[in-house]
Amino acid sequence: ADVKSEYTIGFSQCVGSDLWRQTMLDEMKMELSLHPDAKFIYADANGNSNKQVEQVKQMLNKGIDLLIISPNEAQPLTDIVEQIYDKGIPVIVIDRKTSSTLYTAYVGADNYQIGKMAGEYLGNLLKGKGNVLEVMGLPGSSPAIERENGFDDGIKKYPGIHITAQVYGDWLKANAETQLMKLGNNLSDVNAVFAHNDVMARGSRDVLTRLNIKHPIKVIGVDALPGNGGGIQMVSSKLIDASLVYPTGGKEAIMTAFRILNKEPFTKENILQSVVIDSTNVQLMKLQWNRINSQQKDIERQQALLAEQRELYNSQQVIFNIIVIS
Ligand code: FRU
Repeated sequence: ADVKSEYTIGFSQCVGSDLWRQTMLDEMKMELSLHPDAKFIYADANGNSNKQVEQVKQMLNKGIDLLIISPNEAQPLTDIVEQIYDKGIPVIVIDRKTSSTLYTAYVGADNYQIGKMAGEYLGNLLKGKGNVLEVMGLPGSSPAIERENGFDDGIKKYPGIHITAQVYGDWLKANAETQLMKLGNNLSDVNAVFAHNDVMARGSRDVLTRLNIKHPIKVIGVDALPGNGGGIQMVSSKLIDASLVYPTGGKEAIMTAFRILNKEPFTKENILQSVVIDSTNVQLMKLQWNRINSQQKDIERQQALLAEQRELYNSQQVIFNIIVIS
């Protein structure tokens, strides 16, 4: 009896402008198109945790049946998410976490595991010897904390490898570049860079090139997005040496949302898989993506055709109605 058909879902996004989060939103919209009665309220906090708290409060005032949130930083968003959860409104946490276990479901990859895989991969790539610079995400955001811890544990297996410097790039290319420029000549004893995402990996590579550092430096990142400007392209063009896939979980979040709203069974911890993309498998990944992309285009063409036919049908109905009236 408490199952209704017109749900309102609120989605609070920490930052909306980058390719990874655009991809997340696209995935959500695709899945939402299967629920034409649902309302979707979207807010982009533009990397500001206080703003994100305010936006969540606004959503609450507008009236939402469920909240999906990717918290900019864990601590500042914990209180408001707990409040919403305590009111009985289901909360799905996606990608970044709060500092609390009070949420209905989580969707995202295991960032500790991603960091660990990156450490083991670099250890192997450097044949167990060398100095590593770590370019980390935003301090206080959960993937930055977890990737750092995982990386540390992955690297520990190689006693000949040392993390000689750590800087915060805040997930942003420009900030990563500023931090590397500051290191300047200190970069000459570095053999590899692990950046917590691909845009910072790209920024790191650009600075190394700009500083004209002669010895080879391996650069790896995280995200491995397909398409223009994505990590797969960077690996393919050898701008970076490897990237670990970080699935956005957009589709899974919306699917989980409707299971919760419709009082169907759902999984609390939805952990998405990652994999290393490097020169050995990047061509395969590109092929796969091209195939999915062309299937997607087919679906969009079919939908346009259906919409056209529906319009034609409706206009014929009107003609029919006119005939009946006259
Ligand atoms: C996008 C992003 C990704 C990163 C994730 C971590 O905003 O910076 O590049 O993997 O957020 O939350």
